[in-house]
Amino acid sequence: MKNVISRIAKFLFCVCILALTAAAQTPAHAVDAEGHQWWQNAVFYEIYPRSFADSNNDGVGDLKGITSKLDYLKDLGVDAIWISPCFPSPQVDFGYDVSDYENIDPMYGTLADFDVLASEAKKRGIHIILDFVVNHSSDQHPWFLDSKSSRTSAHRDWYIWRDGKGPGEPPNNWVSGFGGSAWKFDPATNQYYYHYFYAEQPDLNWRNPAVKDAMFDVTRWWYKRGVAGFRLDAVDTLFEDPNLQDNPITRPGQNAFGDPFEKNKYNTKLPEVHDILRGLRKVADEHDAVLVGETWTADVAELNQYYGEGNNELQLPMDFLFTMVNKLSPAEFRKQIAAVNAASGWPTFVISNHDIVRSYDRYGDGQHNDQIAKLMAALYLTLRGTPIMYYGEEIGMKTTPPTSKEDVRDPIGRTGWPKEKGRDGERTPMQWDSGENAGFSKGTPWLPVPPTFKTHNVADESKDPDSVLVFYKNVLKLRHTNPALTDGSYTAINESDANVLSYLRVYKDHGVVVALNMSDAPQKVTLELKGNGFAAAKSLLATGKSGASGGEISLEPFGVFIGELTK
Ligand code: GLC
Repeated sequence: MKNVISRIAKFLFCVCILALTAAAQTPAHAVDAEGHQWWQNAVFYEIYPRSFADSNNDGVGDLKGITSKLDYLKDLGVDAIWISPCFPSPQVDFGYDVSDYENIDPMYGTLADFDVLASEAKKRGIHIILDFVVNHSSDQHPWFLDSKSSRTSAHRDWYIWRDGKGPGEPPNNWVSGFGGSAWKFDPATNQYYYHYFYAEQPDLNWRNPAVKDAMFDVTRWWYKRGVAGFRLDAVDTLFEDPNLQDNPITRPGQNAFGDPFEKNKYNTKLPEVHDILRGLRKVADEHDAVLVGETWTADVAELNQYYGEGNNELQLPMDFLFTMVNKLSPAEFRKQIAAVNAASGWPTFVISNHDIVRSYDRYGDGQHNDQIAKLMAALYLTLRGTPIMYYGEEIGMKTTPPTSKEDVRDPIGRTGWPKEKGRDGERTPMQWDSGENAGFSKGTPWLPVPPTFKTHNVADESKDPDSVLVFYKNVLKLRHTNPALTDGSYTAINESDANVLSYLRVYKDHGVVVALNMSDAPQKVTLELKGNGFAAAKSLLATGKSGASGGEISLEPFGVFIGELTK
């Protein structure tokens, strides 16, 4: 008997040790009943830190400002914030030129401020995602300063240096995405270095294992500080053809910067990118972290490559094809949503960010912009996938580009003026109230506050049940409380309707229908529910006079109806 007890004890001891070892190796990935991880059910929100909230009144937003708005974000329904680069930087590209990957720019605060932000966010269940600028550093980064110092310096091969083709001639015809040749001559060492973006953003040489190790370690460093993942900047551009073949010219003429039209055949989307993404993902998995990608893909097949085989690359490659449906067209959206639902990974939806004209203006007709802003919110916040909001979108912030070249802050707006006005318009200060500088700062804001702050601001909209903000809060609340919206399947219905986009989200025997009138005329629709096992829809959230009677719904112009399905 004693023997049996001792054998059982030994067996249990071994089981415990094995379980503990396994737990130490694989962190607990908290999943819901459908096996969904936290980032699949979360609502992400991009913060452009210069423009969000300024705590020290120097006219530029900062980390303490973000911390002071965490309650607002929580109340809005945000689960993860992606902060655009807040690392030390000469700010040539407003932070996308990093001179130290493991610190905070004094303009935004200190590492101690970051720690407070991280712990306050954690208390509220908000994850922090940082922006990892992987393709290039600043030309002021100590790595580049050393690289540039001589042909034999320790960091020479950390960047891409080449001889010119001939005197005064760059190594090949590649042009920078931000205008001009992608090569800059360095007279001191008599070679050119490569920069896909500005000359102040030299490309790192990812073929050098030392670069890879150093950059992977950056992610480990931040994971240990409590970061829940990264948005990987400009991943397409990590690798270049080592033979530097000229890019093909696609058509005659010149782009906004006066450069030839080139297909970036030899300097973007090289297969080697995926080796790096797999490596970064391995590190992320050790920390239960998520990798979001800035992935400008031409189609879903290309998007699938970023998920990787068996989903071993990015969990959330952004579907920018969705942002390119630049008209309120049910047919176009149906096509795009169906394509991304059939992709090999979890969909990631965005409608605005710091590089593109805000959705408010891209879809707005100038007359019904607020209704259309609600319509767009109802669309991408009820789809199957993870939505990434952009600050200010929830109050209907308008793109407000500079009116003269002298006022432009974004360098591409200066080089490309007037054809390319730059990205200032979508980066204006957050509109918190109708007071001085929209409550963003008591100093002079780095970009002017748009006149619309009088009508579109957090304080006033919070009190108005018809505001864009209250609508966002209501949709997000629904999303967080109705499992059909997070875990449910997606089925398009009424697919021949040219004006109304309708679909079902069904989880077990529980269903929600979403019907969106993309036209400026009232619409009546008989929802195709019967064939899908439901009889009628009961309103959960609708705009204006939109509503249902059985399976029949009426929608006001640009109206929204979200209903619970009954059998
Ligand atoms: C990404 C960023 C953009 C930046 C560029 C260079 O596209 O979103 O803002 O200018 O990369 O880092």
